[in-house]
Amino acid sequence: MSRRPFIAGNWKMNKGPRDADALAVELKRLLADHAAADVAVAPPFVSLPAVIARLQHSGVAVAGQDLHPEVSGAFTGAVSGEMLAQAGCRYVIVGHSERRSLFGDTDATVAAKLRAAYRAGLLPILCVGETLAQRDAGQAQDIVAGQLATALAGLPLDQVLQLTIAYEPVWAIGTGRTASPAQAQEMHAGIRAWLSARYPREVPATVRLQYGGSVTASNAAGLLSQPDIDGALVGGASLTAESFRDIVAAAG
Ligand code: PGA
Repeated sequence: MSRRPFIAGNWKMNKGPRDADALAVELKRLLADHAAADVAVAPPFVSLPAVIARLQHSGVAVAGQDLHPEVSGAFTGAVSGEMLAQAGCRYVIVGHSERRSLFGDTDATVAAKLRAAYRAGLLPILCVGETLAQRDAGQAQDIVAGQLATALAGLPLDQVLQLTIAYEPVWAIGTGRTASPAQAQEMHAGIRAWLSARYPREVPATVRLQYGGSVTASNAAGLLSQPDIDGALVGGASLTAESFRDIVAAAG
């Protein structure tokens, strides 16, 4: 079974409503025929309405960058999955390493957020990845397996089948230091093997595995040509319409 490539742009804390709308205008124009891949962008919360309105009928979906596990309540500053869904998001990023390292998300928090995403009817993009110290200590596979085990524990099969997993080695995020295609493929094959060992065959055959960490228009083709790399989660290079378009083009 062949998996449809999936390219997502994570705008992080960039692009307020006006700048986000301008970027969305460009994306709508440049991605008018991107039929070979699924494409999504994740603007900051305040820019969601502008981007969602602009990208209507463009085929480019919109994602939240994070969500709170609860539906509503006294959680100052937080946004729930239900709110993202009501705003018109289709996807949500869960467990990004910046949320883990800068905002204290633990594996348990990530698991709760993953369940909250499904409860809200959103499609989660679950981020996993090891730090440089963990890689140097030979623990990369174990760390990622542990993150997957906690996040996916008890998740029903129909939800696992809808998951996208983004492997984002922490040492490659925003550093300009990409994992080589061989390094990324090795981890992606490991993740698929992890899924194969625990779920029916349709799961490893269906679940899309994105690579993230300093993906650019020039290194995307090498990464995306690997058999177990089904897409990319792109940070910096998604802030320019042309480079994001080139990455999408490399996928199809
Ligand atoms: P980067 O970010 O492409 O700027 O390295 C990727 C990510 O954090 O998703």
